[in-house]
Amino acid sequence: MSEKKLKLGVLVSGSGTNLQAIIDACESGKIPAEVKVVVSNKPGVYALERAKKHGIPNYVVDHKLYQTREDFEREVIKILKEHEVELVCLAGFMRVLTPFFLRAFPGRVINIHPAILPSFPGVNAQKQAIDYGVKFSGCTVHFVDEGVDTGPIIIQAVVPVYDDDTEETLRERILKEEHRIYPMAIKLIAEGRVSVEGRKVRASAPKPSYQPLHNPPLDEGF
Ligand code: GRF
Repeated sequence: MSEKKLKLGVLVSGSGTNLQAIIDACESGKIPAEVKVVVSNKPGVYALERAKKHGIPNYVVDHKLYQTREDFEREVIKILKEHEVELVCLAGFMRVLTPFFLRAFPGRVINIHPAILPSFPGVNAQKQAIDYGVKFSGCTVHFVDEGVDTGPIIIQAVVPVYDDDTEETLRERILKEEHRIYPMAIKLIAEGRVSVEGRKVRASAPKPSYQPLHNPPLDEGF
């Protein structure tokens, strides 16, 4: 069966574990998509090695070499368009994109953030969660708008925060879920199951069943 595949461009700045999860989901046929190109704004990051290992075209567009954000973004847009990218996935991409970029891919840019938005946007989300003392955190895949981590939410996952968590242990727990929800979000979009009305994203999917969670857990009898 030759199914049409959604063409992805993935923007990275770091180790690229989310990129890997996306590549794996594409290659195994779990999602009807393919990574056409990977672009990093930082030279030498491990995400680029991951792309190479899978034979995916990869580029460095070092933002430091461009005078303005728009000049940097123009170059990234050019590469994405050359590879006919239909959906841009930010995966650990540490640059804020301007309206200039977003206009080139209207409603076609998504991001993953390691917190339950709108809590703890911006950098160091895991540290923010620990410092605040929340009992649950998690991750969010959302459409990118002109704000920082403010766009319409597609999917979220929740994990508990333990009293003895460090930033690192919480990061690991959240990351495991990131690697599940990012490919899932792409699947929903690739299958045309997502519609956006204002802030609200509707996905054609069953209602989730749930067990209420409590942290700390309830004693018996509650
Ligand atoms: C992830 O926690 C992601 O949510 C955040 O940056 C981290 C990137 O990790 N935006 P990786 O590069 O995908 O391993």
